[in-house]
Amino acid sequence: MIEPSNNEIDIVKSSNTKIHDVDFNNLTFGKTFTDHMFVCDYIDGSWQQPKIMPYQAMTFEPSARVFHYGQAVFEGMKAYKDENGKIWLFRPDENHSRINKSAARLAMPEFPKDYFFNGLTNLLKLDKDWIKPGLGNSLYIRPFVIATEPAISASPANSYRFIIICSPAKAYYTGKVRVLFAQQYSRSADGGVGFAKAAGNYAAQFYPTSLAQKKGYQQIIWTDARTHEFLEEAGTMNIFFRVNNKLITAPNNDRILDGITRKSLLQLAEDNQIDFEVRPISVNEIKEAARNGSLKEIFGAGTAAVVSPISAFEHDNEVFEIPNTEDSYASMFKEQLQNIQHNLSEDKHHWRYEVK
Ligand SMILES: Cc1ncc(COP(=O)(O)O)c(C=O)c1O
Repeated sequence: MIEPSNNEIDIVKSSNTKIHDVDFNNLTFGKTFTDHMFVCDYIDGSWQQPKIMPYQAMTFEPSARVFHYGQAVFEGMKAYKDENGKIWLFRPDENHSRINKSAARLAMPEFPKDYFFNGLTNLLKLDKDWIKPGLGNSLYIRPFVIATEPAISASPANSYRFIIICSPAKAYYTGKVRVLFAQQYSRSADGGVGFAKAAGNYAAQFYPTSLAQKKGYQQIIWTDARTHEFLEEAGTMNIFFRVNNKLITAPNNDRILDGITRKSLLQLAEDNQIDFEVRPISVNEIKEAARNGSLKEIFGAGTAAVVSPISAFEHDNEVFEIPNTEDSYASMFKEQLQNIQHNLSEDKHHWRYEVK
């Protein structure tokens, strides 16, 4: 792991704080931002002097390529504070390597690991009061990169800006989530950018998701674009199915985001001796399992959503309600994961990273 230092970062501190205006018990996800942000420009083949500055609006030329061709990638991670005031990140190396995989797919430059960790740790130390202790509280961290070059020819930019902003958060979905299995629209396709956290992947979901929401569903579970017969993932979460006592999740491929929560839950399943399979899951087998009562749970897993139980799904205009399960795997995983994230339990896989 990289040792952070602030040697190379220009830091301009905010002269006042907005924190006293924030009601931490009533946060809307992603609406409130901390006092500072991290910024680093890429010009002529190299990353420039990184900076931390007060959170503020930025100006870009209207011709900046990001506005025209969506050359933009991002990450989502969280910082947690334990009862002793120590700050923790969860598997941050994974976010660093994933933003670089996403960037490579969009013909964008990789961001150096020491810059990433220096930026993150110095920013979190400055804005540490925004991280509240207690299960369910966190600071959502949004690193992202955009193509800033003012030029509208359809080709990769030669200048970029890497930015990190932070937003205090509670869990993303409260209450149970109802989902629609995709039959018409697709989020991603073979050979496409589904595995990348590319901004456009999310914009592409908004319209079909808004149609699903009109029918009373919060999310769509995307299916493979070719046949719509296999269940893949939701808009911001990977998906797990529990049939009897077996956990099943779809394998990663170039259409699915390689979720850090997903891979952590698979490890926790192994630790808890829960039988699991990583394999294609057909819509038909899940409908059949729902009919014969062997479908015990469906839940989503993701940084923002943590572990989010799904209470019903619709496919072919047929609605399937999933009864409550007493010994829920979702609740167990959520508790174990949060205990690790908040430094309340042993971290035997070395997932925690202390910000100091
Ligand atoms: C499309 C998609 N799938 C899955 C996930 C879950 O990934 P992670 O657990 O790394 O947050 C996310 C959120 O980042 C996502 O945007």
